[in-house]
Amino acid sequence: MTDKGDGAITAEPAEDDAAWRALLERRNDATSPPETSPLDTLYGPLCRAHRNATHRNGSFAIGHLAQSLDGRIATNSGISQWVSGAEDLLHTHRMRALADAVVVGVNTVVHDDPQLTVRRCAGANPLRVVIDPERRLDGSQRIFRDAAAPTLLFAAADCARSGEAVGAAEVVAVPRGRCGLDPHEIRRVLARRGLTWIFVEGGGITVSRFLAAGALDRLQITVAPLILGSGRPSILLPEITDLSSSLRPRTRRFVLGEDIMIECDFDD
Ligand SMILES: NC(=O)c1ccc[n+]([C@@H]2O[C@H](COP(=O)([O-])OP(=O)(O)OC[C@H]3O[C@@H](n4cnc5c(N)ncnc54)[C@H](OP(=O)(O)O)[C@@H]3O)[C@@H](O)[C@H]2O)c1
Repeated sequence: MTDKGDGAITAEPAEDDAAWRALLERRNDATSPPETSPLDTLYGPLCRAHRNATHRNGSFAIGHLAQSLDGRIATNSGISQWVSGAEDLLHTHRMRALADAVVVGVNTVVHDDPQLTVRRCAGANPLRVVIDPERRLDGSQRIFRDAAAPTLLFAAADCARSGEAVGAAEVVAVPRGRCGLDPHEIRRVLARRGLTWIFVEGGGITVSRFLAAGALDRLQITVAPLILGSGRPSILLPEITDLSSSLRPRTRRFVLGEDIMIECDFDD
């Protein structure tokens, strides 16, 4: 894998690429062999968790954030390219390739105008979802104009009608809950469309809302060795007054180049 310095990863070692393609092919295969390669070690258990969820007629949701040592995902002005290194960016594209749908909040679309496609590894583009309750996006952003993958825009039912179009995207109107749009309802709507592997890619507010609602099965936090000292926060949850109220999930740890990724498992 080579980073040319412009954010583009040009080539992966052929054997790594072959192992990745083999893993992608086994994504839904209940008879997949035990983990033998590093790729299997990282992604195999996620494929199994997704299969188990779908056997129960449910879905599987996993969040990911790249943050600094001091817990920031971007500057206050919204610059986040790039907090983490090339390995974590490749990992993010692999997570997109495994997912049926990739979810981001409206601020991420405003600041990054992302494509949310799979470009750094083999794999199909997931359907793209943006949560924009107040209809702040005008349809000029790339996810509404390119034909790379279908896009859904989730908006509050008092601001939108289901089936409306924003550019090439379809609006899905859902009622407001106590804390915005209910992440469980978003998962249910996606599952009804056959989208059962949900990758919540950011930003901090969106991932935090899923976490606060208990709507994440896994959360991956990649910690990069830099300190911003200010900026947009990673996870923010309602205040606690005692450490006994903190979340202490089971974790797995992976080294991704200079970064460390910690994966939290919220399944009981
Ligand atoms: N380092 C990373 O891993 C990473 C990843 C992605 C993005 N980013 C960066 O993060 C920044 C954006 O992150 P952010 O935390 O400010 O915002 P964000 O999560 O991208 O978007 C948050 C907004 O989305 C809407 N939203 C999300 N979930 C909702 C829900 N369940 N119900 C109702 N509304 C919901 C709300 O819109 P309203 O305000 O209209 O109510 C909310 O304020 C950008 O600078 C981007 O570059 C970093």
